[in-house]
Amino acid sequence: MQKIYIKDLGQYVDQTITLKGWLYNKRSSGKVRFIILRDGSGLLQCVVFKGNVTPEVFELSDKLGQESSIEVTGKVKVEPRAPGGFELDAVDVKLISESKDYPITPKEHGVEFLMDKRHLWLRSNRQAAILKIRHRIVKAIRDFFDDRGFTLMDAPILTPAACEGTSTLFETDYFELGKAYLTQSGQLYAEAGAMALGKVYSFGPTFRAEKSKTRRHLTEFWMVEPEVAFNDLNDDMDLAEEFLEYIVQSVLKDRAEELKVLERDTTKLEAVKRPFPRISYDEAVQILAKNNIPFDYGNDLGATDETVISSQFDRPVMVHRYPSEVKAFYMKRDPENPKLALAVDVLAPEGYGEIIGGSQREDDLDLLLERIHEHKLPQEAFEWYLDLRRFGSVPHSGFGLGIERTVAWICGLEHVRETIPFARMIYRNTP
Ligand code: 4AD
Ligand code: MG
Repeated sequence: MQKIYIKDLGQYVDQTITLKGWLYNKRSSGKVRFIILRDGSGLLQCVVFKGNVTPEVFELSDKLGQESSIEVTGKVKVEPRAPGGFELDAVDVKLISESKDYPITPKEHGVEFLMDKRHLWLRSNRQAAILKIRHRIVKAIRDFFDDRGFTLMDAPILTPAACEGTSTLFETDYFELGKAYLTQSGQLYAEAGAMALGKVYSFGPTFRAEKSKTRRHLTEFWMVEPEVAFNDLNDDMDLAEEFLEYIVQSVLKDRAEELKVLERDTTKLEAVKRPFPRISYDEAVQILAKNNIPFDYGNDLGATDETVISSQFDRPVMVHRYPSEVKAFYMKRDPENPKLALAVDVLAPEGYGEIIGGSQREDDLDLLLERIHEHKLPQEAFEWYLDLRRFGSVPHSGFGLGIERTVAWICGLEHVRETIPFARMIYRNTP
């Protein structure tokens, strides 16, 4: 049988149809029961008039608990005042399966309680809006690269060595081969891909045993990582800004309704247009000084520093050329000042902090070996990566965009825990 969904009701005006879903909410007034039906595609008010249904159906409408699964038959009416613009004049209501004492009521609940009930919390209109925006962001990411000649090349999740430093590795036993680690980034493999296919991107879950309990940190998060042969740092920044503009404008165009549910100030997103400001680390440090923020030159930027820097601009700001000491081993040094790495971080506006980290990669075999030793990394584990510099090395660059921080920013959320269906954080690995 053909299924009809709430989002398509415009095609069924004045027709009598049957919808299946869950009872989202209800209220009553005299001889009328109002059932808000939820079917995953939208919400619909179903009006049950005592005179239009059997006494049994009217009684059922009275008793139904929140999130009971039901089937409602009725006539589709245009109702400009109703959310979605339609209403259903019910002639029949059937119970599919009961729901008693649903734990999440329309009243306020604490976030920890809601996170414990995350499997049910996903049914709320607000969480559905976030998930739909996340999906649109993921689609924009794929479309962007697919339309520009990139090949999707996913990296392994079980890896023999660290990519982003050894302090945040999740470790596991790997048969006779000793230890394996959950990947922190697909980058090193994407570099192999770029040497094979020119332009690639990897897109998958990445893991960091971060001890940080902040609103920006998850232990499992999704990252998309483009890598391009013959791109230098400037090309990398060009790619990053075109990419972010595309993502934000796609969401604005296609998810206006969901942004409204989240009460997002979209004027802030409309401003996300190229070109983005590009400032050096040194200029960023000057901004901190001007704002009387204490900061030791040479350190990495902290969350507060990022917020102060990004608050100077109405769109994402790209901070480039960090001290190489605070950055990863694979980053190329600036030929004009070897104390600096050819790195770029993109800071989102409105205090959302770093959403992209990228760089031009060290393409010289001897310098890369030096870095591996400086960082006390096991050379054997990187022999394959060093091969990329032994056999036709070329300048190349790439970056990683964290999906959850991007969703938090675009949706205007306090915390990344709501941006992923089931968040993994230092104090949470359930449900
Ligand atoms: O800056 P990061 O560590 O860069 C890399 O991993 C590079 N290998 C990427 C590359 O050049 N291919 O991480 C990239 C992004 C950050 O900017 C942030 O958005 C996100 O990944 N990220 C996190 N998101 C949530 N929770 C965490 N613990 C995160 N750590 C990084
Ligand atoms: Mg970073």
